[in-house]
Amino acid sequence: MKFFVDTADVAAIRELNDLGMVDGVTTNPSLILKSGRDIVEVTKEICDMVSGPVSAEVVASEAKDMIAEGLRLAQIAPNIAIKVPLTWDGLTACKALASEGHKVNVTLCFSSAQALLAAKAGASFISPFIGRLDDIHLDGLELIEDIRIIYDNYDFRTEILAASIRSVNHVIDCAKIGADVVTAPPAIIKAMASHVLTDKGLEQFNKDWAKTGQKIL
Ligand code: G3P
Repeated sequence: MKFFVDTADVAAIRELNDLGMVDGVTTNPSLILKSGRDIVEVTKEICDMVSGPVSAEVVASEAKDMIAEGLRLAQIAPNIAIKVPLTWDGLTACKALASEGHKVNVTLCFSSAQALLAAKAGASFISPFIGRLDDIHLDGLELIEDIRIIYDNYDFRTEILAASIRSVNHVIDCAKIGADVVTAPPAIIKAMASHVLTDKGLEQFNKDWAKTGQKIL
């Protein structure tokens, strides 16, 4: 399973990237706002650091404007994946940009019908938002399962990029289902290292070690 980091926080990406935890990055307008940085500057810095795909999102609503924005974003670096919303215009832009050889991430996906259309339009990635479905008492993981079945039935090459990840359990459930990628905030990726029994075990080892009076160095 590939790990993308869902942030435009360069320091947080660097910390995880140095550990080999980062296969790509996803950003969106809200994350750019949170970073307080200029979209082109921050995206370039991320692309220079990470070798995998870095998603940068268009904000226009008409296909022709999305295509123009997508082409501008693609100039930032060769590893840009152009992110377009799952609207009819977004699918039109996806088809045009993918046909020119660009990687396209179709975002804001909330149904398997939408995911099927994105695959037909040549998307490299489909981004179903698990957490936002859970927020309205629908089943985000069930959507990932359904898309996996549909894509496998027809051998679609579009990668399932599970997004809106809110917990460590979301990551593990996506891994069990067979999502190709999860994009998670840095805090969730770091939380995967924690376990109460690890902390407890370490505390006991440290106590016992102190009693031996020994030193390793
Ligand atoms: O990349 C977009 C997505 O992951 C957003 O997540 O937590 O804002 O629903 P969230």
